[in-house]
Amino acid sequence: MSVILVVDDERLQRDIIKTILDEEGYETYTAPSGEEALKTAKKYNPDVILADLKMGGMDGIELLESVQKYFATSTMIIVTAHGTISSAVEAMKKGAFDYLTKPLSKDSLLMTVRRAVERTELLKENLHLQKELYDRFRIEGIIGNSGKMQEAVKIMKKVSDSSATVLIRGESGTGKELAARAIHYNSSRRSKPFTALNCASIPENLFESELFGYEPGSFTGATSRKIGMIELTNNGTLFLDEIGDLPLLMQAKILRVLQDKEIRRLGGKYPIKVDVRIITATNKDIEKELAKGNFREDLYYRLRVVVIELPMLRDRKNDIPGLVQFFLNRYNLEFGKRIKGVDSAAIKALVDYDWPGNIRQLESVIERAVILCDTDTIALRDIKSELRLSERSGSFDFDLPEGGINFEELEKDILKKSMLRANGVMAKAAKLLGMSYKTFWYRWEKLNSDHPDSRDEALDQEDSN
Ligand SMILES: Nc1ncnc2c1ncn2[C@@H]1O[C@H](COP(=O)(O)OP(=O)(O)OP(=O)(O)O)[C@@H](O)[C@H]1O
Ligand SMILES: [Mg+2]
Repeated sequence: MSVILVVDDERLQRDIIKTILDEEGYETYTAPSGEEALKTAKKYNPDVILADLKMGGMDGIELLESVQKYFATSTMIIVTAHGTISSAVEAMKKGAFDYLTKPLSKDSLLMTVRRAVERTELLKENLHLQKELYDRFRIEGIIGNSGKMQEAVKIMKKVSDSSATVLIRGESGTGKELAARAIHYNSSRRSKPFTALNCASIPENLFESELFGYEPGSFTGATSRKIGMIELTNNGTLFLDEIGDLPLLMQAKILRVLQDKEIRRLGGKYPIKVDVRIITATNKDIEKELAKGNFREDLYYRLRVVVIELPMLRDRKNDIPGLVQFFLNRYNLEFGKRIKGVDSAAIKALVDYDWPGNIRQLESVIERAVILCDTDTIALRDIKSELRLSERSGSFDFDLPEGGINFEELEKDILKKSMLRANGVMAKAAKLLGMSYKTFWYRWEKLNSDHPDSRDEALDQEDSN
């Protein structure tokens, strides 16, 4: 039930309004002055406060100011005597939701109160969502006790409150975007936008208009003004993912944003001041692009003021059980399941696996297992096929060529590749293919009998990669 507080120094007025609102099913309280109103508000945290503008002591405007300060989710309606509209307008400017003039009509009273209640509900919902967002991306919520992860978390905490540019490095699925969000939601920019842009997914000719926007007429087809992402993110954080794929021309423009803190819309006459924090990420060797001249050195140094390295999951296997539990909780909640845990054989398989897709892959394995599992414990059978499947498709995905294939060559190729993946450890290579050691050895020997050196050759190749 919505709570309404009626503030008026005239008793009769208070009582009439209270009666109307009570009848409508609201929980209504009254107060004879602004001072009393604040006390009552503290006790009942009203959704809507309906206050007379002119009262002895604290008047409606002063009350409004206090309410805004201390009761963030209360909505205020001001009641004025006929002829004092200008002060009502002033109250609206200061943040009152609406005003009513005396004598009150029952209909407009009820309608305005109803709309005010709706606004409060929206406010509460927004606050709730915002809190959920903060909770979800708390730095403390990042799972990882391993040394390398702790190191990364320490840096995240340290840099959050500065506006320093941060470069996050890590293989695919190691949590780069999560880290960027955690930094944002831990910074004083948290209530401002966080915008993520994947540089690899934008066609080169659209980059500028996406990031910087344009003025009408700046090119054929630009019929109206478009505000670019950087402007929309003003005072917030811009996350540029796969920064290594940023075209050279755009690199120069981003550099300018960092140096001069301004942008220019395409076709725009004047620069526009912006304040955005830039966080970038890459899973590539950006230094290689630097050496090849594909990445500007000056920008590179600007971006890597702080570098955060996210470890691969296979290098922090101790964290796997904790992550599994974390995702289990998440997907239990999402799918309304009550799976208690994962049995020891399954945990062992999860820890043994080498996770080429890192945490993202682990998350999807657990998500799938939660969906499929029909007991209260996830067992090996719920995850087995997934692990083997992804292990294979990672390196052996291929289309059957038009002209068919030479099966022996293909087999040789597969064996060789798995040997490479397994760093020449035959038992491991066999496991990768789901074969016994004996079968693998037999095939390997047979196929390589005319090339006695091919195993070494395979390993040489790996070294030069
Ligand atoms: N330490 C962690 N604790 C909990 N969840 C995590 C952690 N790291 C990553 N995740 C989750 O794993 C998934 C992948 O993370 P994210 O998208 O941040 O990775 P990424 O490095 O950006 O991947 P890609 O390179 O593929 O874009 C997300 O659902 C994220 O919430
Ligand atoms: Mg990502």
